[in-house]
Amino acid sequence: LCEQGLTEIKQAKNEAALNQVRIKLVGRKSELTEILHSMKNVEPKNRREIGQKVNELRDLFNEKLDEAKAKILKTIEKEQLEQEKIDVTLPGRKSHLGVKHPINIILDDLEKYFIGMGYEVVQGPEVETDHYCFEMMNLPKDHPARDMQDTFYIDAEDLLRSQTSGDQARVLEKFDFTKGPLKMVGPGKVYRRDDDDATHSHQFMQMEGLVVDKNITMGDLKGTLEMMTRHVFGQDRKTRLRPSYFPFTEPSVEMDVSCFNCDGKGCSICKYTGWIEVLGAGMVHPNVLENAGVDSNTYGGFAFGVGLDRFAILKYGIDDIRDFYTNDVRFLEQFSKEE
Ligand code: PHE
Repeated sequence: LCEQGLTEIKQAKNEAALNQVRIKLVGRKSELTEILHSMKNVEPKNRREIGQKVNELRDLFNEKLDEAKAKILKTIEKEQLEQEKIDVTLPGRKSHLGVKHPINIILDDLEKYFIGMGYEVVQGPEVETDHYCFEMMNLPKDHPARDMQDTFYIDAEDLLRSQTSGDQARVLEKFDFTKGPLKMVGPGKVYRRDDDDATHSHQFMQMEGLVVDKNITMGDLKGTLEMMTRHVFGQDRKTRLRPSYFPFTEPSVEMDVSCFNCDGKGCSICKYTGWIEVLGAGMVHPNVLENAGVDSNTYGGFAFGVGLDRFAILKYGIDDIRDFYTNDVRFLEQFSKEE
Protein backbone atom coordinates (compact mmCIF):
# COMPACT_ATOMS: atom_id res chain seq x y z
CA LEU A 1 0.00 0.00 0.00
CA CYS A 2 2.79 2.35 0.91
CA GLU A 3 4.77 1.86 -2.27
CA GLN A 4 1.77 1.96 -4.53
CA GLY A 5 0.62 5.20 -2.90
CA LEU A 6 3.98 6.84 -3.32
CA THR A 7 4.16 5.91 -7.04
CA GLU A 8 0.68 7.30 -7.60
CA ILE A 9 1.71 10.56 -6.00
CA LYS A 10 4.76 10.70 -8.24
CA GLN A 11 2.72 10.01 -11.34
CA ALA A 12 0.18 12.76 -10.77
CA LYS A 13 1.05 15.37 -13.36
CA ASN A 14 -1.25 18.20 -12.42
CA GLU A 15 -3.25 19.60 -9.54
CA ALA A 16 -6.48 17.84 -10.47
CA ALA A 17 -4.83 14.44 -10.74
CA LEU A 18 -3.04 14.99 -7.47
CA ASN A 19 -6.31 15.84 -5.76
CA GLN A 20 -7.76 12.56 -6.99
CA VAL A 21 -4.78 10.71 -5.52
CA ARG A 22 -5.15 12.61 -2.24
CA ILE A 23 -8.81 11.56 -1.97
CA LYS A 24 -7.88 7.99 -2.74
CA LEU A 25 -4.99 7.76 -0.26
CA VAL A 26 -6.07 9.79 2.75
CA GLY A 27 -9.70 10.69 2.05
CA ARG A 28 -12.70 9.59 4.06
CA LYS A 29 -13.22 6.54 1.88
CA SER A 30 -9.55 5.58 1.56
CA GLU A 31 -8.13 2.20 2.54
CA LEU A 32 -6.36 3.82 5.46
CA THR A 33 -9.57 5.21 6.88
CA GLU A 34 -11.20 1.88 6.36
CA ILE A 35 -8.47 0.15 8.31
CA LEU A 36 -8.91 2.61 11.15
CA HIS A 37 -12.65 2.03 11.13
CA SER A 38 -12.22 -1.71 11.30
CA MET A 39 -9.88 -1.62 14.31
CA LYS A 40 -12.57 -3.15 16.45
CA ASN A 41 -12.02 -6.41 14.58
CA VAL A 42 -8.34 -6.38 15.37
CA GLU A 43 -7.06 -8.22 18.31
CA PRO A 44 -6.60 -5.73 21.16
CA LYS A 45 -2.89 -6.45 21.60
CA ASN A 46 -2.19 -5.58 17.96
CA ARG A 47 -4.35 -2.47 17.86
CA ARG A 48 -1.74 -0.11 19.13
CA GLU A 49 0.90 -1.19 16.61
CA ILE A 50 -1.43 -1.18 13.60
CA GLY A 51 -2.94 2.14 14.62
CA GLN A 52 0.52 3.66 14.83
CA LYS A 53 1.50 2.25 11.42
CA VAL A 54 -1.63 3.61 9.80
CA ASN A 55 -1.05 7.05 11.27
CA GLU A 56 2.58 7.05 10.21
CA LEU A 57 1.58 6.07 6.69
CA ARG A 58 -1.08 8.80 6.57
CA ASP A 59 1.47 11.37 7.71
CA LEU A 60 3.91 10.15 5.08
CA PHE A 61 1.26 10.36 2.35
CA ASN A 62 0.25 13.84 3.45
CA GLU A 63 3.82 15.00 3.47
CA LYS A 64 4.51 13.59 0.00
CA LEU A 65 1.24 14.97 -1.33
CA ASP A 66 2.17 18.47 -0.12
CA GLU A 67 5.61 18.17 -1.64
CA ALA A 68 4.16 17.07 -4.97
CA LYS A 69 1.67 19.93 -4.91
CA ALA A 70 4.39 22.48 -4.27
CA LYS A 71 6.37 21.03 -7.17
CA ILE A 72 3.43 21.24 -9.55
CA LEU A 73 2.72 24.86 -8.56
CA LYS A 74 6.33 25.70 -9.15
CA THR A 75 6.30 24.27 -12.68
CA ILE A 76 3.13 26.17 -13.45
CA GLU A 77 4.77 29.39 -12.28
CA LYS A 78 7.87 28.64 -14.29
CA GLU A 79 5.87 28.00 -17.43
CA GLN A 80 3.98 31.22 -16.93
CA LEU A 81 7.17 33.21 -16.47
CA GLU A 82 8.53 31.59 -19.59
CA GLN A 83 5.48 32.57 -21.58
CA GLU A 84 5.41 36.14 -20.33
CA LYS A 85 9.09 36.66 -20.77
CA ILE A 86 10.02 40.00 -22.28
CA ASP A 87 13.10 40.28 -24.39
CA VAL A 88 14.46 43.59 -23.24
CA THR A 89 16.96 43.63 -26.09
CA LEU A 90 14.21 43.80 -28.75
CA PRO A 91 13.82 47.25 -30.32
CA GLY A 92 10.76 49.11 -28.96
CA ARG A 93 7.66 49.68 -31.01
CA LYS A 94 7.73 53.21 -32.37
CA SER A 95 4.76 55.40 -31.55
CA HIS A 96 3.87 57.75 -34.35
CA LEU A 97 4.36 61.32 -33.20
CA GLY A 98 2.35 64.10 -34.80
CA VAL A 99 4.02 67.19 -36.13
CA LYS A 100 3.38 70.86 -35.60
CA HIS A 101 1.14 72.47 -38.18
CA PRO A 102 3.06 74.96 -40.37
CA ILE A 103 0.79 77.79 -39.27
CA ASN A 104 1.46 76.93 -35.65
CA ILE A 105 5.18 76.88 -36.34
CA ILE A 106 4.96 80.48 -37.53
CA LEU A 107 2.52 81.47 -34.81
CA ASP A 108 4.61 80.02 -31.98
CA ASP A 109 7.71 81.64 -33.39
CA LEU A 110 6.02 85.05 -33.64
CA GLU A 111 4.57 84.80 -30.16
CA LYS A 112 8.01 84.07 -28.78
CA TYR A 113 9.42 86.94 -30.79
CA PHE A 114 6.88 89.45 -29.46
CA ILE A 115 7.01 88.19 -25.88
CA GLY A 116 10.74 88.81 -26.09
CA MET A 117 9.94 92.42 -27.01
CA GLY A 118 7.71 92.85 -23.97
CA TYR A 119 4.36 92.22 -25.64
CA GLU A 120 1.52 90.40 -23.97
CA VAL A 121 -0.34 87.66 -25.87
CA VAL A 122 -4.11 87.98 -25.59
CA GLN A 123 -6.89 85.86 -27.03
CA GLY A 124 -10.37 87.14 -27.83
CA PRO A 125 -13.48 85.08 -28.55
CA GLU A 126 -14.07 83.56 -31.98
CA VAL A 127 -17.76 84.18 -31.59
CA GLU A 128 -17.46 87.93 -31.27
CA THR A 129 -20.05 90.65 -30.97
CA ASP A 130 -20.79 93.26 -33.59
CA HIS A 131 -20.02 95.74 -30.82
CA TYR A 132 -16.33 94.79 -30.47
CA CYS A 133 -15.63 93.54 -33.98
CA PHE A 134 -17.08 96.61 -35.70
CA GLU A 135 -18.74 99.36 -33.66
CA MET A 136 -15.85 99.86 -31.27
CA MET A 137 -13.47 99.71 -34.22
CA ASN A 138 -15.00 102.78 -35.82
CA LEU A 139 -17.32 100.83 -38.09
CA PRO A 140 -20.89 101.85 -37.22
CA LYS A 141 -23.76 99.80 -38.67
CA ASP A 142 -24.14 101.78 -41.88
CA HIS A 143 -20.41 102.09 -42.60
CA PRO A 144 -19.65 101.12 -46.20
CA ALA A 145 -16.34 99.49 -45.19
CA ARG A 146 -18.28 96.69 -43.49
CA ASP A 147 -18.54 95.24 -46.97
CA MET A 148 -14.75 94.76 -46.96
CA GLN A 149 -15.26 91.76 -44.74
CA ASP A 150 -18.15 89.50 -45.64
CA THR A 151 -19.18 88.37 -42.22
CA PHE A 152 -20.94 85.25 -40.95
CA TYR A 153 -23.64 86.57 -38.64
CA ILE A 154 -25.13 84.28 -36.00
CA ASP A 155 -27.81 86.76 -35.03
CA ALA A 156 -28.18 90.54 -35.06
CA GLU A 157 -25.40 90.99 -32.50
CA ASP A 158 -23.21 87.87 -32.58
CA LEU A 159 -20.91 86.87 -35.41
CA LEU A 160 -17.94 84.72 -36.29
CA ARG A 161 -15.26 87.35 -36.11
CA SER A 162 -13.99 88.45 -39.51
CA GLN A 163 -10.90 90.01 -37.97
CA THR A 164 -9.00 89.88 -34.68
CA SER A 165 -9.20 93.68 -34.41
CA GLY A 166 -11.94 93.41 -31.78
CA ASP A 167 -9.16 92.29 -29.42
CA GLN A 168 -7.81 95.84 -29.63
CA ALA A 169 -11.02 97.28 -28.23
CA ARG A 170 -11.28 94.62 -25.52
CA VAL A 171 -7.77 95.33 -24.28
CA LEU A 172 -7.94 99.13 -24.63
CA GLU A 173 -11.15 99.27 -22.60
CA LYS A 174 -9.54 97.61 -19.59
CA PHE A 175 -5.97 98.84 -19.80
CA ASP A 176 -4.47 100.89 -16.98
CA PHE A 177 -2.10 103.34 -18.67
CA THR A 178 -0.52 104.44 -15.39
CA LYS A 179 1.23 101.05 -15.43
CA GLY A 180 3.17 101.77 -18.64
CA PRO A 181 2.65 101.31 -22.38
CA LEU A 182 0.18 98.86 -23.86
CA LYS A 183 1.86 96.26 -26.08
CA MET A 184 -0.10 93.25 -27.16
CA VAL A 185 -0.49 90.68 -29.90
CA GLY A 186 -3.71 88.75 -30.38
CA PRO A 187 -3.57 85.67 -32.58
CA GLY A 188 -6.59 83.58 -33.54
CA LYS A 189 -8.94 82.15 -36.12
CA VAL A 190 -11.11 84.45 -38.22
CA TYR A 191 -13.93 83.72 -40.65
CA ARG A 192 -15.19 85.31 -43.82
CA ARG A 193 -17.86 84.42 -46.35
CA ASP A 194 -15.55 83.37 -49.13
CA ASP A 195 -15.81 80.57 -51.63
CA ASP A 196 -12.80 78.37 -50.89
CA ASP A 197 -10.23 78.09 -53.63
CA ALA A 198 -6.44 78.01 -53.90
CA THR A 199 -6.09 81.53 -52.47
CA HIS A 200 -9.26 81.94 -50.38
CA SER A 201 -10.41 80.16 -47.26
CA HIS A 202 -13.52 80.92 -45.23
CA GLN A 203 -11.40 80.35 -42.12
CA PHE A 204 -7.86 81.53 -41.57
CA MET A 205 -5.47 82.76 -38.89
CA GLN A 206 -4.75 86.36 -38.04
CA MET A 207 -2.53 88.02 -35.53
CA GLU A 208 -3.44 91.44 -34.29
CA GLY A 209 -0.83 93.80 -32.91
CA LEU A 210 -1.38 96.94 -30.84
CA VAL A 211 0.95 99.40 -29.14
CA VAL A 212 -0.43 102.46 -27.34
CA ASP A 213 1.50 104.98 -25.30
CA LYS A 214 2.45 108.64 -25.35
CA ASN A 215 4.48 109.79 -28.35
CA ILE A 216 4.21 106.72 -30.54
CA THR A 217 5.05 107.58 -34.12
CA MET A 218 4.76 106.04 -37.54
CA GLY A 219 8.52 105.46 -37.30
CA ASP A 220 7.86 103.06 -34.40
CA LEU A 221 5.32 101.23 -36.57
CA LYS A 222 7.68 100.98 -39.51
CA GLY A 223 10.58 99.77 -37.37
CA THR A 224 8.44 97.18 -35.60
CA LEU A 225 7.01 95.78 -38.82
CA GLU A 226 10.36 95.78 -40.56
CA MET A 227 11.99 93.84 -37.75
CA MET A 228 9.15 91.34 -37.68
CA THR A 229 9.06 90.70 -41.41
CA ARG A 230 12.82 90.30 -41.52
CA HIS A 231 12.62 87.90 -38.59
CA VAL A 232 10.14 85.80 -40.54
CA PHE A 233 11.37 86.16 -44.12
CA GLY A 234 15.07 86.81 -43.75
CA GLN A 235 17.32 89.66 -42.73
CA ASP A 236 18.04 90.91 -46.26
CA ARG A 237 14.41 91.59 -47.13
CA LYS A 238 13.64 95.17 -48.09
CA THR A 239 10.28 96.58 -47.03
CA ARG A 240 8.03 99.39 -48.12
CA LEU A 241 4.81 100.94 -46.88
CA ARG A 242 2.02 101.78 -49.26
CA PRO A 243 -0.95 103.99 -48.35
CA SER A 244 -4.14 102.01 -47.76
CA TYR A 245 -7.44 102.27 -45.94
CA PHE A 246 -8.79 100.70 -42.76
CA PRO A 247 -11.58 102.29 -40.71
CA PHE A 248 -9.68 101.81 -37.43
CA THR A 249 -6.35 103.33 -38.47
CA GLU A 250 -5.41 106.75 -39.83
CA PRO A 251 -3.20 106.89 -41.74
CA SER A 252 -3.41 103.29 -42.92
CA VAL A 253 -0.74 101.37 -44.75
CA GLU A 254 0.03 98.04 -46.29
CA MET A 255 3.50 96.60 -46.03
CA ASP A 256 5.29 94.87 -48.87
CA VAL A 257 8.55 92.91 -48.67
CA SER A 258 10.91 92.52 -51.57
CA CYS A 259 10.17 89.25 -53.35
CA PHE A 260 12.33 86.52 -51.86
CA ASN A 261 12.00 84.46 -54.98
CA CYS A 262 13.50 86.90 -57.48
CA ASP A 263 14.90 89.45 -54.99
CA GLY A 264 12.93 92.28 -56.48
CA LYS A 265 13.72 91.60 -60.11
CA GLY A 266 10.23 90.39 -60.95
CA CYS A 267 8.81 86.89 -61.28
CA SER A 268 5.43 85.16 -61.38
CA ILE A 269 5.23 84.93 -57.58
CA CYS A 270 5.35 88.72 -57.15
CA LYS A 271 3.43 89.23 -60.40
CA TYR A 272 6.51 90.92 -61.83
CA THR A 273 6.33 93.81 -59.36
CA GLY A 274 9.28 92.76 -57.23
CA TRP A 275 7.13 93.20 -54.11
CA ILE A 276 4.85 91.00 -52.06
CA GLU A 277 2.14 92.38 -49.80
CA VAL A 278 2.34 90.88 -46.33
CA LEU A 279 0.16 92.85 -43.90
CA GLY A 280 -2.11 95.80 -43.10
CA ALA A 281 -1.40 98.38 -40.43
CA GLY A 282 -1.68 102.01 -39.40
CA MET A 283 -1.84 104.56 -36.60
CA VAL A 284 -4.74 103.86 -34.25
CA HIS A 285 -7.73 106.03 -35.20
CA PRO A 286 -8.63 108.51 -32.42
CA ASN A 287 -12.22 107.24 -32.49
CA VAL A 288 -11.03 103.75 -31.54
CA LEU A 289 -9.23 105.17 -28.51
CA GLU A 290 -12.13 107.40 -27.49
CA ASN A 291 -14.67 104.57 -27.93
CA ALA A 292 -12.66 102.61 -25.36
CA GLY A 293 -12.41 105.55 -22.99
CA VAL A 294 -8.78 106.39 -23.77
CA ASP A 295 -7.89 110.09 -24.14
CA SER A 296 -6.74 110.42 -27.74
CA ASN A 297 -5.07 113.76 -27.05
CA THR A 298 -2.66 112.16 -24.60
CA TYR A 299 -2.30 108.67 -26.05
CA GLY A 300 -1.76 107.30 -29.50
CA GLY A 301 -0.39 104.17 -31.06
CA PHE A 302 -0.15 101.82 -33.95
CA ALA A 303 -1.85 98.59 -34.89
CA PHE A 304 -1.24 95.87 -37.41
CA GLY A 305 -2.96 92.74 -38.63
CA VAL A 306 -1.05 89.81 -40.04
CA GLY A 307 -2.52 86.92 -42.01
CA LEU A 308 -0.59 83.93 -40.72
CA ASP A 309 -1.75 81.71 -43.58
CA ARG A 310 -0.30 84.25 -45.94
CA PHE A 311 2.98 84.29 -44.01
CA ALA A 312 3.16 80.50 -44.17
CA ILE A 313 2.28 80.41 -47.88
CA LEU A 314 5.00 82.91 -48.69
CA LYS A 315 7.60 81.46 -46.38
CA TYR A 316 7.18 77.85 -47.48
CA GLY A 317 6.14 78.44 -51.07
CA ILE A 318 2.75 76.75 -50.73
CA ASP A 319 0.44 77.13 -53.69
CA ASP A 320 -2.92 76.12 -52.23
CA ILE A 321 -4.27 77.55 -48.97
CA ARG A 322 -6.64 74.57 -48.66
CA ASP A 323 -3.66 72.34 -47.90
CA PHE A 324 -3.56 73.94 -44.44
CA TYR A 325 -7.04 72.71 -43.60
CA THR A 326 -7.34 69.30 -45.23
CA ASN A 327 -4.65 67.98 -42.86
CA ASP A 328 -3.02 65.48 -45.16
CA VAL A 329 -0.14 64.23 -43.03
CA ARG A 330 2.08 63.91 -46.10
CA PHE A 331 1.71 67.66 -46.55
CA LEU A 332 2.04 68.55 -42.87
CA GLU A 333 5.09 66.36 -42.22
CA GLN A 334 7.17 68.35 -44.69
CA PHE A 335 7.42 71.21 -42.20
CA SER A 336 8.27 69.25 -39.07
CA LYS A 337 11.98 69.86 -39.50
CA GLU A 338 11.50 73.61 -39.70
CA GLU A 339 11.72 74.10 -35.95
N1 PHE B 1 -8.11 93.91 -39.47
C1 PHE B 1 -7.49 94.20 -40.73
C2 PHE B 1 -7.89 93.12 -41.73
O1 PHE B 1 -8.47 92.16 -41.37
C3 PHE B 1 -5.98 94.25 -40.62
C4 PHE B 1 -5.51 95.40 -39.79
C5 PHE B 1 -5.34 95.26 -38.44
C6 PHE B 1 -5.23 96.63 -40.38
C7 PHE B 1 -4.90 96.33 -37.66
C8 PHE B 1 -4.77 97.67 -39.62
C9 PHE B 1 -4.62 97.51 -38.27
O2 PHE B 1 -7.64 93.25 -42.90
